[in-house]
Amino acid sequence: MRILVTGGAGFIGSNLARLLAAQHEIIVVDDFSSAHWTNLVDFHGDVLTLDLSADLAPLRRLEPCAAIFHQASITDTTITDQQRMMFNNLEGFRNVLDLARDWNSIVVFAGSASVYGQVPAPMKESTAPWPMNAYAYSKLAMERLADHYRQKLKNPIVGLRYFNVYGPGEDHKGKFASMIHQLAKQIRSGKRPRIFTAGQQRRDFVYIDDVVQANLKALNSTRSGIFNVGSGASYTFNQVVAELNRALKTDLQPDYFTNPYTFTQDWTEADLTESRRCLSYDPQFNLTRGIEAYLSTGRLGVSN
Ligand SMILES: NC(=O)c1ccc[n+]([C@@H]2O[C@H](COP(=O)([O-])OP(=O)(O)OC[C@H]3O[C@@H](n4cnc5c(N)ncnc54)[C@H](O)[C@@H]3O)[C@@H](O)[C@H]2O)c1
Repeated sequence: MRILVTGGAGFIGSNLARLLAAQHEIIVVDDFSSAHWTNLVDFHGDVLTLDLSADLAPLRRLEPCAAIFHQASITDTTITDQQRMMFNNLEGFRNVLDLARDWNSIVVFAGSASVYGQVPAPMKESTAPWPMNAYAYSKLAMERLADHYRQKLKNPIVGLRYFNVYGPGEDHKGKFASMIHQLAKQIRSGKRPRIFTAGQQRRDFVYIDDVVQANLKALNSTRSGIFNVGSGASYTFNQVVAELNRALKTDLQPDYFTNPYTFTQDWTEADLTESRRCLSYDPQFNLTRGIEAYLSTGRLGVSN
């Protein structure tokens, strides 16, 4: 199958592209605004450098792709320039959906658990969303746009609301990389891990292999929809520090500081009822297993 992976030089897109490349012809599209070339060293397919919110003419000259995994997005959640956020994330997606209409492609796209904001956990897809910043709103607007395109496309459009994804290939994201990677970096450099007071915020951390699994399952979906992709459990930052100390064989206690942001989520946790039922998604990595798997790649807490 010919498959397009947008944002394919980024964290999630590159993991997906490398795995799919073993069996399919993969074309990566990325504008390299937040990506890192090191993510593609082991990828042998075509790489097209292009801004999806601009002119897609170079893409349209390619042979049609049967499937599109759309991962491209601004992922800096602190950007307050709403025009830039909306133009990049929503108009880029609109262009991709137009392409999918012309190509008759199945579309699987990256949504985000940020649309839940302060909704009480565990979060269900049917709950009214509560986006708390421009990034979260842009992801919600993408879901609504997908809904409008359902009638126009022959094949399903599946949106995946990722929770906090961690794994190899995320270092370029800096302060937007997972807290697991950032805290591991601090620990590896001998510093006490810095977390918000008093380490009790809870997150559903989902390992990259489970996110890739969800994407592959979504490819086989016969129906459109929006589905949660998490581990189905939540862990406090104190627990993350304890797991990292165990994995890295260190004993550095948390260095607590006051949360400077007004819009952070206190407790995220995915309700996986729908994604299990409709996609047969079955996450394999709890926090301990995920951190072990990450460590075994040699990339946990390691800079590019
Ligand atoms: N990592 C997470 O925890 C997480 C959580 C929720 C949702 N997501 C979503 O998953 C997707 C992938 O995120 P990621 O963590 O891999 O981040 P990332 O920043 O590594 O990947 C995004 C990629 O998109 C590219 N890109 C951005 N705008 C583009 C444009 N206009 N044209 C072409 N390429 C463009 C960037 O260069 C980058 O390579 C994003 O849609 C993000 O919103 C990620």
